[in-house]
Amino acid sequence: MKNKTKLENRGTFTGKIGFVLAAAGSAVGLGNIWRFPYLAAEYGGGIFLLVYLLLAVTLGFALMAAEILIGRKTGLSAVSAFKKLDGRFSFLGSLASIIPVIILPYYCVIGGWVMKYSATFAFGEMNAAAADGYFTEFISNPIQPIGWFLLFLGVTAVVVLFGVEKGVERVSKIMMPILVVMVLGVSVYVLCQPGAIEGVKYYLVPDFNNFKATTILAAMGQLFYSMSLAMGIMITYGSYMKKDVNVESSVHNIEIFDTGIAFLAGLMIVPAVFATQGVEMAKGPGLMFIVLPKVFAKMPGGAVIGFIFFALVFFAAITSSISLMETVVSIVKDKFKLGRKLSCAIVLAICLILGIPSALSNGEGILSGFKIIGFGFLDFCDFASNSVLMPIVALITCIFIGYVLKPKALIEEAEAEGNTFKAKRLFTVVIKYVAPICIVLILAFSILEACGILTV
Ligand code: PHE
Repeated sequence: MKNKTKLENRGTFTGKIGFVLAAAGSAVGLGNIWRFPYLAAEYGGGIFLLVYLLLAVTLGFALMAAEILIGRKTGLSAVSAFKKLDGRFSFLGSLASIIPVIILPYYCVIGGWVMKYSATFAFGEMNAAAADGYFTEFISNPIQPIGWFLLFLGVTAVVVLFGVEKGVERVSKIMMPILVVMVLGVSVYVLCQPGAIEGVKYYLVPDFNNFKATTILAAMGQLFYSMSLAMGIMITYGSYMKKDVNVESSVHNIEIFDTGIAFLAGLMIVPAVFATQGVEMAKGPGLMFIVLPKVFAKMPGGAVIGFIFFALVFFAAITSSISLMETVVSIVKDKFKLGRKLSCAIVLAICLILGIPSALSNGEGILSGFKIIGFGFLDFCDFASNSVLMPIVALITCIFIGYVLKPKALIEEAEAEGNTFKAKRLFTVVIKYVAPICIVLILAFSILEACGILTV
């Protein structure tokens, strides 16, 4: 009965398709289109892709299934779910809750960049955007990135406050397929350009010389980020899921969707780096914003295609930032027992405090000289959440499920109402052994590598 009321409140996840689309709406975002390609380019192309895919079908599958099952079993969101399952692990819910608080502000900064590029294309200034130095000049400006950040944050906040989420979801159900078609179209165009084949090779053929411990760490952090894992979001989503929906096949669907879009985005951007002059040096977070305008500028009809593309990326980003902000607002609301409006105001204040330094920390921005362990502020937030906190939360979650709660408890939940869970052996082995061992090793090696003690 309790479950039913919740479902009615939310009104959405009435069946598998509703659940899969809602989870995919959170999962597919800037992580797939902006972050995945630049990491692939930075961490050795094919080898990064291979490691990512291996992690996705093992760790990603097991962790996403585990989180959804914890949510469905308890009918609660992260903090209370862990508390209910075992009081000693309630800290895990709180630890996981810190992560979206760190991600949301800088997510809105990058979302702002996407809005800026949509506007630039809409005003017919594609050639300016394609010129060398345009992006650096923009992110180094003391005012512009803040303005766009505030706009993106404002749109997210309005949706969260007034709950026009339904409308956004409906629109994004139309937009997402169009985005897939566009990403495919642009990749085909890029692949036909001279020089692109070198890039395809770099992207698809693993070169084991490029392999480092940090490659796995980066791939693992990206996996968590992209699939919205290790921060309690999927627990909340699971709590709204009906018992008769098959969790295993839902997870497969979400994974194929999420990984497919990331793969195609890489296929669009990485070869373009090889085919376009003047972008060899463009690595890191700016990759998409530097490479794509140059591609569109050479393409017939590029001005229109570029505008539609950035507008679609904006939609993918806004659905993700809404799910991030919803999560943070509900954490603040529950933790401090406050009303929704006040919680929203507090979350906005946090976003401003963390987002403004993020917006100013790039290129030659005023805060670009301010470094924390070698990272600018935005990059530091990204590193701290994805490469440090998420692996730690994932590790403790696996230990908790593997040895305290026991995988059987979740497998039973998956098999409720006659559903099947074919990969239960894989699930158990990954949660109990593979994931904990891998995460500890990856963290240890990466720390050694970062400290210069280990050179591979
Ligand atoms: N998964 C989203 C993306 O790939 C980012 C995100 C993380 C959204 C966590 C919500 C929660 O862009």
